[in-house]
Amino acid sequence: TENVEIDNVIIGSGYGGAVAALRLAEAGHEVTILEMGLNWEKSGEKFSPMISPGKSAAWLRTKTIAPFFNIFNTKKYTGTLDRWDFSNIKIWMGRGVGGGSLVNGGMAVLPKKDYFREIFPELNAEDFYGKYFPLAEKELEVNSADENFLENCSFYKFNKVGEQEAHKAGFKTVRVPNVYDFKYMEAEYENKVPRSALAGEVIYGNNYGKKSLDKTYLKKAQETGKVQIHDLHRVESITKGSDNTYILEVIQTNTVGEIIAKKKIVCKKLFLCAGTMGTLELLLKSSNDNKLTLNSEVGQNWGNNGNFMTGRNFVKTFSGGTGVNHSTIPVGGIDNWNDKEHPFFTEIAPLPMGMDVATSLYLMISPVPKKGTVFFNPISGKIDLKWSENNVALARKNAEYFIKTMNKANGGTRAHLLFNNGFGADICYHPLGGAVLGKATDKAGRLLGSEHLYIIDGSLIPGTIGVNPFLTITALAEYCIEHIISEDY
Ligand code: FDA
Repeated sequence: TENVEIDNVIIGSGYGGAVAALRLAEAGHEVTILEMGLNWEKSGEKFSPMISPGKSAAWLRTKTIAPFFNIFNTKKYTGTLDRWDFSNIKIWMGRGVGGGSLVNGGMAVLPKKDYFREIFPELNAEDFYGKYFPLAEKELEVNSADENFLENCSFYKFNKVGEQEAHKAGFKTVRVPNVYDFKYMEAEYENKVPRSALAGEVIYGNNYGKKSLDKTYLKKAQETGKVQIHDLHRVESITKGSDNTYILEVIQTNTVGEIIAKKKIVCKKLFLCAGTMGTLELLLKSSNDNKLTLNSEVGQNWGNNGNFMTGRNFVKTFSGGTGVNHSTIPVGGIDNWNDKEHPFFTEIAPLPMGMDVATSLYLMISPVPKKGTVFFNPISGKIDLKWSENNVALARKNAEYFIKTMNKANGGTRAHLLFNNGFGADICYHPLGGAVLGKATDKAGRLLGSEHLYIIDGSLIPGTIGVNPFLTITALAEYCIEHIISEDY
């Protein structure tokens, strides 16, 4: 075992970790990021598309783990997409330098201001909408597609049909901004540059076009010369040292997951940015194994952001379907949030299968009136989740209403070809909460009852934010780290 002493350690290189690293470095502090996944850029490996999965497809699995069509075998490799299965819910996560930004759809959605206020009563919403959200949008390089391009691009037929059908059913649609560079996509369409979004790449990584965190925050952070990123370094546990330090047990692996070194890293300030599930596992496991002191709010108020995947088969089967080619980058949403009885937002999602399957796919987001609990299971040595059908009752009601209303106006059936009974109630891309801001932490993400232990990731959001969450996670991270730097250094 190698022993190392460092001032500032960040665990995880997703949104929270990337923001914290950049701002700490700009303020003159040396930072070390420990990331269990691979640094793809440095490795020189390529990302693979959904219909021909390669090394990037799955985290140490021999079979793909996408939400559907897992008919492919893969070689065990430290791929970009991971999935943790619990009863009643499966949770997908990104792995690698850049975290979830490597695998996600890039949708950068501003939450509704009223809902933000309701979710975070202790925060000043004016500050967020005037400062932290615009800052996050600028740094993440959020942009919107040109309407003319969308109108004429054959790869967006699925979206055009989706919007027309929504309007016919009486729903309101919205344009959704993204971190994928739409100018690049236009050049892809004209065959001037290598294709990525138009070549089926997204959930196993994009080789071009997408401004994932390695191209934005993390790149800027490294340019300061003060940030070191150690990839393939997984933190196994945290112990509180006698001198107010934190002692991390770390393993370094190779790309097939074998341990090649064990390290003990001691740090003065520890930033937990391992994503909702990663952060909760580290906290709860360390509390059980090493008596790390936690407050009773850790593990409470967990939610799936109301995620509910559904779809419709036989969409315009006889009048042109949803198109052969789909861009992997969503641009449209259906906003029904202000309907008191059926409040939801849904993404009109692509299905890049390389053929016209006349199927529409929707990732719906509903409020989460009933939260779940995350706890440590000493028998399995892992975290577990209290989550039942009850927790998704509102989301299911909304999905039934939505699909019924769409089919009544447009024809089509529930997507039995995609999901059992047509509903993917157990599909979660947006795990949130468990270390909620203002409950488990103070207003700046300091874990209550612990000194110099900071939480900056999705676990700060109490299980729901009403839209896809990374823009909110980024804005919260900007806010927290600003306070931490000015008050704790
Ligand atoms: P994030 O999960 O990004 O990063 C955590 C990092 O910590 C990971 O890199 C992980 O490997 C690392 N880590 C974990 N445990 C560790 C340990 N013990 N030691 C070392 N490293 C460790 N959101 C959105 O707003 N718009 C969208 O379009 C989408 N689409 C989407 C699609 C898919 C398929 C998924 C899976 C998710 C999305 N999301 C999304 C969700 C979004 O990606 C997610 O909310 C954020 O990535 C969460 O950011 P965090 O900073 O919380 O952690």
